[in-house]
Amino acid sequence: MNKLCIEGDKNLSGSVTISGAKNAALPILFMSILTEGKIQIKNVPKNLTDINIALKLLVYVGVKITYKKILFIDPSSINVFCAPYHLIKKIRASIWMLAPLLARFGKAKIFLPGGCKIGSRPIDLHLNGLIKLGAKINFKNDCIIASVQGRLKGKYILMEKISVGATITIMSAATLAQGITIIDNAACEPEIVDIAKFLNTLGANIIGAGSKKIYIKGVIKLTGGTHQIIPDRIETGTFLVAAAISKGCIICHNTEPKHLTNVLLKLIDAGAKIQIGKNWIKLDMRDKRPKALNIRTAPYPGFPTDLQAQFALLNTISLGIGTITETVFENRFIYISELINMGAKIILKNNTIISYGTPKLLSSNVFCSDLRASATLVLAGCIALGVTIVNKTYHLIRGYESFPKKLNKLGADIKIL
Ligand code: EPZ
Repeated sequence: MNKLCIEGDKNLSGSVTISGAKNAALPILFMSILTEGKIQIKNVPKNLTDINIALKLLVYVGVKITYKKILFIDPSSINVFCAPYHLIKKIRASIWMLAPLLARFGKAKIFLPGGCKIGSRPIDLHLNGLIKLGAKINFKNDCIIASVQGRLKGKYILMEKISVGATITIMSAATLAQGITIIDNAACEPEIVDIAKFLNTLGANIIGAGSKKIYIKGVIKLTGGTHQIIPDRIETGTFLVAAAISKGCIICHNTEPKHLTNVLLKLIDAGAKIQIGKNWIKLDMRDKRPKALNIRTAPYPGFPTDLQAQFALLNTISLGIGTITETVFENRFIYISELINMGAKIILKNNTIISYGTPKLLSSNVFCSDLRASATLVLAGCIALGVTIVNKTYHLIRGYESFPKKLNKLGADIKIL
């Protein structure tokens, strides 16, 4: 999928089933390297390029994979401790191969990872954490060469900056380290809680995941087990915005409302009527134009940076002036030029965008730059007057399962060119 043709001015309403969380599934796939026990994982999002690349990387090092409705993983015969450049470079998540290979086998050779161009995406916090646990890290031609004599050693680690990825790297390495590791100033995202639950199912000793301090008591080896991936809170937020911008009414099934508290409060501020149940959220914005919002992204439980673009779109058609400040990534406003091409009135000032709401966007020929910006431009096409062509939509299938199909079921008119 590289190009979409979208007939706009639609009202998006109906029910949608949310997929498993990409940002929990990716690290959990790589964490399977930590054990020789057989694993079953349910609710893995299907047909995502990032997931497919992660599975290819696992097969490359010797993991046996069977993927029908449930994903079966057998990591007992890993015999390769490096990974090929052409796969590693495609996804940021490939960095999560480093710690498990190192912790279980004492060695790993991984190229510097790829990922969306939303910032420089350094990995210093990952590597510093592993060094503190006793790893030796060298570099050779864009490749990280890690080793340790015997086992890694548990340590107190104060994160100088909150990092989801580095917290996951250190937590995974510490599961097999000798002694106790404390990660202070840890990231608190629900995905980290899910990963800790998965590792504890395999016999790890992790407490405190989801709080600022995570305690890990290392074990000699892990076993097998079964795990179900949590719902994707970012996909959920994306569909709630779809209803909010199109005067629609959408119910999201198979989701977790408590992972979106901050987001739901903002949607209520925008004038949406929100109802929630145990595993569903309904947003009703029928016959209403949203009110503009002021948002500042932050690590969880703050407002998620992965919904920044979608809410920027909401502000472009809202009543009044809204601002969005991005504090997590340094280059995450690339998409605003495309929204301006569609008639949005947006000014960029340092790491803040100011939007002057306009009743309608106009169709245009737009280009995607990263995963979440792609979803935003597709939603913009659904509400703009006329026919919008969205280019480079290969970014979209990195993280959204059947996005055009799910939107068409809600009343959109999207054709894949
Ligand atoms: C994860 O990225 C997610 N990716 C991102 O989702 C998400 O936006 C991000 O967490 C924040 O929630 C996956 O889970 C695959 P970070 P990650 O480490 O781990 C800096 C999406 O759209 N930093 O929390 O890369 C970094 O530059 C993606 O699904 C360092 O300086 O994010 C950033 O400014 C986009 N050194 C900040 O920390 C490091 O070693 C937060 O990054 C690591 C990160």
